[in-house]
Amino acid sequence: MTNGIWRRIDDDLDGMRRAGQYKRLKNLMRPMGPESEIEGAGNVVVLCSNDYLGLANHPEVVTAAIDAQKRWGAGTGSVRFICGTFDYHREVEEKIADLSASEAATTYVSCWNANEAVIPTLMTIAGDSVIAVSDALNHASIIDAVRLGRQMNKSAQSRIYKHSDMDDLENRLKEAAAIKTKLVITDGVFSMEGDIAKLDRIHALCAEHDALLIVDDSHGVGVCGPTGRGVAEHYGLHGKIDCLTGTLGKALGGAAGGYVASRKNLIDLMVQKSRPQIFSNALPPATAGAARAAIDILTRDSSRIEKLRSNVGYMRSGLKARGFETMEGPSAITPIILGETAKAIAASRRLLELGVFVIGFGYPVVPEGTARLRVQISAAHEKEHLDRALDAFQKL
Ligand SMILES: Cc1ncc(COP(=O)(O)O)c(C=O)c1O
Repeated sequence: MTNGIWRRIDDDLDGMRRAGQYKRLKNLMRPMGPESEIEGAGNVVVLCSNDYLGLANHPEVVTAAIDAQKRWGAGTGSVRFICGTFDYHREVEEKIADLSASEAATTYVSCWNANEAVIPTLMTIAGDSVIAVSDALNHASIIDAVRLGRQMNKSAQSRIYKHSDMDDLENRLKEAAAIKTKLVITDGVFSMEGDIAKLDRIHALCAEHDALLIVDDSHGVGVCGPTGRGVAEHYGLHGKIDCLTGTLGKALGGAAGGYVASRKNLIDLMVQKSRPQIFSNALPPATAGAARAAIDILTRDSSRIEKLRSNVGYMRSGLKARGFETMEGPSAITPIILGETAKAIAASRRLLELGVFVIGFGYPVVPEGTARLRVQISAAHEKEHLDRALDAFQKL
């Protein structure tokens, strides 16, 4: 006899099916690119990847991944501090620090891990007077990291401010005036909205209230700012953010991996104390190799960023001309709000039949009643891909 958990698993899955929230994974039959092939659906234009610069299957990135694997083997077979640090870790971390205009950087197997490294570690070492103040629409990894920080340090507090509401953030900071350590945490680009954080105001408020600013720029790096350094560069704040986290699984090669970039002492603290690095294996060679090559391409050639911007503009005006509401802004994400979850899922199913791969997001990923299609554009799209997609939206 068990305690009934197997039955509860079935009930839970059935509940998701009934609510139209059950996710069916789609099998890609070709590498990620501006178009791909889905098992059972055929050729599709891809509008749902975070491969913003089109580097996931770039020959230089693939070759670098293979070369790294050949040179270093499959991995370290250990965590970093025991015997799991290779030369390539140092190299890729130096490149990430450069890209972020930070003193130093350290890597993790995902940005999820990077957030769960830096936020709880800081909330723990800060002692009995610490608060984390977080945007209401921050990524799930930030939300969970703050929860974890409160578990690890029972006297740590947390507050949520209304999404991008600077008056609310200021009020939260004023309320926290007596608390010694204040952390303000925000996404750079909000992944479901496609809008960018008001980093100029947030940065100024942090300075005024003596708060440390952590920005997760997973969707901003490679996309925002004149040279693709991210949302901080967009605001002229490159090199001025206390702590950046980001992913290597989106614009920077599309494989996997994450990082924290900051002052040397904070990075040293991560190496000494952050649990996702102390108790979990290091970034494997192939992913590090891919990311290193992607960073090299980004730093030597801004043409991809320019093409991405022109593609985003083309798609947004095409959608607008077809009666869809879109918003302006420097990110590569355009949500189309449809309301009910079932409606968003039905729309994405219909678009797939029409040869366009775009995902409908509903509750609980986004708040109830704000289900949406999330259109994501890449520098790898050609006009022909975007026109095919726009034709499908027209039919929809
Ligand atoms: C803002 C943000 N942070 C973190 C992550 C997680 O990144 P990773 O896939 O590297 O764990 C994502 C991915 O969706 C994200 O959008």
